[in-house]
Amino acid sequence: MNHIISIHDLERSEIDSILDEAAIIQALQYNDTALKGKILALLFFEPSTRTRMSFDAAMARLGGTSIGIDSVEASSMAKGETLADTVRVVSGYADAIVLRHPKEGAARLASEFSTVPVINAGDGAGQHPSQTLLDLYTIRQSMPLDDIQVGLLGDLRYGRTAHSLAHALSLYGVTIHTISPKGLELPSAILEELTRAGTQVVEHDDVSGIISSLDVLYVTRIQRERFPDSASYFQVASSYRITPELLSGVKQRLIVLHPLPRLDEIDPRVDLLPHARYFEQSRNGIPVRMAMLQKVMI
Ligand code: CP
Repeated sequence: MNHIISIHDLERSEIDSILDEAAIIQALQYNDTALKGKILALLFFEPSTRTRMSFDAAMARLGGTSIGIDSVEASSMAKGETLADTVRVVSGYADAIVLRHPKEGAARLASEFSTVPVINAGDGAGQHPSQTLLDLYTIRQSMPLDDIQVGLLGDLRYGRTAHSLAHALSLYGVTIHTISPKGLELPSAILEELTRAGTQVVEHDDVSGIISSLDVLYVTRIQRERFPDSASYFQVASSYRITPELLSGVKQRLIVLHPLPRLDEIDPRVDLLPHARYFEQSRNGIPVRMAMLQKVMI
């Protein structure tokens, strides 16, 4: 079965092929109805704007239809039905399932019970592979992926987009600079995996000391919903902020990315600078997810 649960499920050649296909789809102005007659199930048990809507829009552009559940409360899971039974049932209604769930490992579990391909749209603090593909796509629109200097800033402990992206970048010989508040560092298991893969990872306390060397700055929000209590969140909230002043001495080609939503970690004045690519990044969700849907459903 053609599931995409983790970015680890894809070889570099498969990633390149999805990005190439997305570029063709975008160049042809989404003029592709390859999934006419197919049905996509969107199971979202955590809030989402971009991932939910861009998968829905991608399916519509491919000529297909989406059905979905947007919360536990709106489904029979509220009556006690398990995720496994829900997935068994839904895989009888659709040709693929996109699942977002607050528990790490939920998408892998779902794939064991599904008779159709499952795409992980975010499982707790685990993985978010479709986000990573559109992140890579956005970088590739500005520069080749190989041998660049990428800063990962923010909540690298709970931020699943950073976890998936770090692995993908390791396939391209990228140097990764991590910058995070104390206690929100990249998990040691991921650091060890990157080291084993031969990726150079440099840890920093403060973004100002490294920003002039970066080609990409990937900013993330602090994942308040994953903290054990409000007090520990407020200890680190608002502890970093990208401003036009901070960006004054950076490389001309530096791009600032953010999976969004943002809180206060990027000053809105940055939106006006040529470095800001995060809204373009969210738009790239359409061609990239169109390419992913074709990969798993055809
Ligand atoms: N980047 C991202 O996953 O956004 P949503 O939570 O809005 O889907």
